[in-house]
Amino acid sequence: MRYRLLSTLVAAATVAAVETATETYEYVVVGSGPGGGPLACDLARAGYKTLLIEAGGDEGDNPTYSELGNFLEAANDEATRWDFWVKHSDDPKRELEFKHMTWDTGDGTFYVGLNPPAGAKQLGIQYPRAAVLGGCAMHNGGVCSLPQDEDWNLIVNATGDTSWEASKMRQYLKKIEKNDYLPSGNAAHGYTGWLSTSTGDASWAKNDSLPATKILKKMAELTGQNPADVASLANSDILGAYDNKDDITSFYNMVQHADKNGKRSSPNNYVRATLADPKKYPLTLKLHTLATKVLFANATAAGGLPRAIGVEVMEGASLYRADPKHVPGTKGNTTQILASREVIVSGGAFNSPQLLKLSGIGPAAELQKFGIPVIKDLLGVGEKLADNYEGSLLGLATEPIQGAGLITMMFRTPSAPTKKRNIFTWCGVLSFEGFWPGFPTDYGPHEYECAMVHIGPKSQAGSVRLLSADPQDVPDINFRFYEHNGDVDLHELVEGGKLLREAWQAAGAPTLPFNELHPCPGTAAGANCSDAAQAESYKTQAYSHHATSTCAIGGDKDPMAVLDSKFRVRGVVGLRVVDASSFPVVPGAFPSLPTMMISTKAAEDIIADAQKAG
Ligand SMILES: Cc1cc2nc3c(=O)[nH]c(=O)nc-3n(C[C@H](O)[C@H](O)[C@H](O)COP(=O)(O)OP(=O)(O)OC[C@H]3O[C@@H](n4cnc5c(N)ncnc54)[C@H](O)[C@@H]3O)c2cc1C
Ligand SMILES: *[C@@H]1O[C@H](CO)[C@@H](O)[C@H](O)[C@H]1NC(C)=O
Ligand SMILES: *[C@@H]1O[C@H](CO)[C@@H](O)[C@H](O)[C@H]1NC(C)=O
Ligand SMILES: *[C@@H]1O[C@H](CO)[C@@H](O)[C@H](O)[C@H]1NC(C)=O
Ligand SMILES: *[C@@H]1O[C@H](CO)[C@@H](O)[C@H](O)[C@H]1NC(C)=O
Ligand SMILES: *[C@@H]1O[C@H](CO)[C@@H](O)[C@H](O)[C@H]1NC(C)=O
Repeated sequence: MRYRLLSTLVAAATVAAVETATETYEYVVVGSGPGGGPLACDLARAGYKTLLIEAGGDEGDNPTYSELGNFLEAANDEATRWDFWVKHSDDPKRELEFKHMTWDTGDGTFYVGLNPPAGAKQLGIQYPRAAVLGGCAMHNGGVCSLPQDEDWNLIVNATGDTSWEASKMRQYLKKIEKNDYLPSGNAAHGYTGWLSTSTGDASWAKNDSLPATKILKKMAELTGQNPADVASLANSDILGAYDNKDDITSFYNMVQHADKNGKRSSPNNYVRATLADPKKYPLTLKLHTLATKVLFANATAAGGLPRAIGVEVMEGASLYRADPKHVPGTKGNTTQILASREVIVSGGAFNSPQLLKLSGIGPAAELQKFGIPVIKDLLGVGEKLADNYEGSLLGLATEPIQGAGLITMMFRTPSAPTKKRNIFTWCGVLSFEGFWPGFPTDYGPHEYECAMVHIGPKSQAGSVRLLSADPQDVPDINFRFYEHNGDVDLHELVEGGKLLREAWQAAGAPTLPFNELHPCPGTAAGANCSDAAQAESYKTQAYSHHATSTCAIGGDKDPMAVLDSKFRVRGVVGLRVVDASSFPVVPGAFPSLPTMMISTKAAEDIIADAQKAG
């Protein structure tokens, strides 16, 4: 497979000019994704003069982004794409077994696969991010689910801050949600917020003669649900308030952050609405601006702790080298912008730790290696990187499956170590096998897949570490998948896949047999593969796109804690990190909605502090 590598390169090198600080805001927020976007709007709406800095542009009117159905195109689109080339392990041999390993051929194309042409340079595993107003919520699948209650409660345990109790977190969903799929008045939901949520049509599940319904009924039987009830179960509310919800195995109707007409809903909408509001909220947006450093003063007033007083930025488009449109040698003008109250970093799980480190906050030894003066030696910055493991059961049906809807189920694999469900699956006529330039592969009308997102990875051994002190450079990202108790997680994926495969065998003629492509190739319905072989497949071919925890909240005595429970960076004042990097663990199966919820929570915390300070 070969794909275009770079936009036409224009030979150009702009010389950077340094200007002095001319602008002052009360708050400066870096990054407009689910972490930074809602927060910046809430601060401005509360009357605080706020600057929102975003490295990308605004594609809110571009149908590639505004129509959720175009998300595959959006995630591939050079207009916004930042390519991070990541590793999944420290084992170079294992990396080379990843069948979508990507290489730079040197002639302007990518090679994706196991047999690169001579001389090709190994790039790594593509991990796309969207540099655009709204962040990755502008190119993601929009799938919504809530964290496990425990993911919130463990913050209470670690920090003593009871505002994180799971029962109290629903208020943030209610505050931001504009529910577009349930009659108003449902106490679990919000109807007046800025984030539209909607579901698909599950009525196909009423038709017993469809192969997909036969699979659905078999799945019900295998997971202790009543096969006679599938039509209504397939319409269950995945964001509903249920007692012990994390112990429940059930089908659901998939919820996405979009309105009922399929228009994507994201922080982009909220930022634009805030800017356009006749009330003229004091929000300023700077697009095409790359924050390169947080600025500090030595404030003795705050107990001798360094105080964040603003940011240094480079102005211009495509300055970051993850951007395929970056023109080598290009630098933007450098400017300093002051924040009289606070700086909030929301660059996402890769860029927030990088920016902190460039600013002198991180493991001292790493910073010193690159000559960065240490403001605060903080071991956890860039560590604890974790993600949901993803894998799938993909096959080709003998005859295309007609009229198949999307099956969504959260279930517990039979020998999981706890009572909690551990797999989020969606099954349909689709193929999703992770990311590479030009993804996904179209296997034609016979394709059928159950995609699995594993919940609760037992390892958090990944890291984001500097490769240089140059803010335009991309850091080294290694997920170190399955490093701790990986066998337990792999066994859960194998059991999940086996259960789904068994359900497939109920599809009947003319769908059967499936010619499975992975993890157990062939038509033997799994009989041909050992558990170990399937585990190996889930291990070497795992993919992910929910990176978190690189600036994690933690307790006072935890040396790896980067933030306190109010998102404040430990050891300095006037600086917070609010985004997917703040979560101490991966929040459930999908992080986008939870990140918007904590953004809203953080705004409340910040406003409360401002009111105290006067
Ligand atoms: C292809 C794909 C599909 C996904 N699908 C789903 C899904 O269906 N459901 C789900 O829940 N999650 C999904 N996710 C994950 C989800 O979108 C992210 O977890 C979420 O967007 C994280 O929000 P964030 O604010 O932490 O970071 P981001 O969304 O990455 O936002 C960070 C923003 O900061 C900007 N930025 C970074 N550094 C700087 C800097 N130095 N200066 C200025 N600006 C900067 C970036 O341009 C970006 O706009 C998906 C992710 C991908 C990549
Ligand atoms: C929190 O602490 C209590 C008491 O020690 C314990 O029972 C509970 O399991 C802990 N919860 C989490 C999520 O860690
Ligand atoms: C159920 O599906 C079958 C096969 O696609 C179709 O022929 C039939 O009309 C459907 N029945 C209903 C009630 O929609
Ligand atoms: C803060 O103090 C340190 C050590 O005294 C010094 O090296 C640094 O330049 C000071 N920074 C500022 C912004 O004044
Ligand atoms: C940098 O500043 C110069 C002089 O003010 C200006 O002409 C140029 O357009 C600026 N470049 C960018 C990328 O903003
Ligand atoms: C079982 O696997 C072998 C080789 O691994 C393959 O040749 C054969 O076709 C498979 N059998 C079936 C029924 O898929």
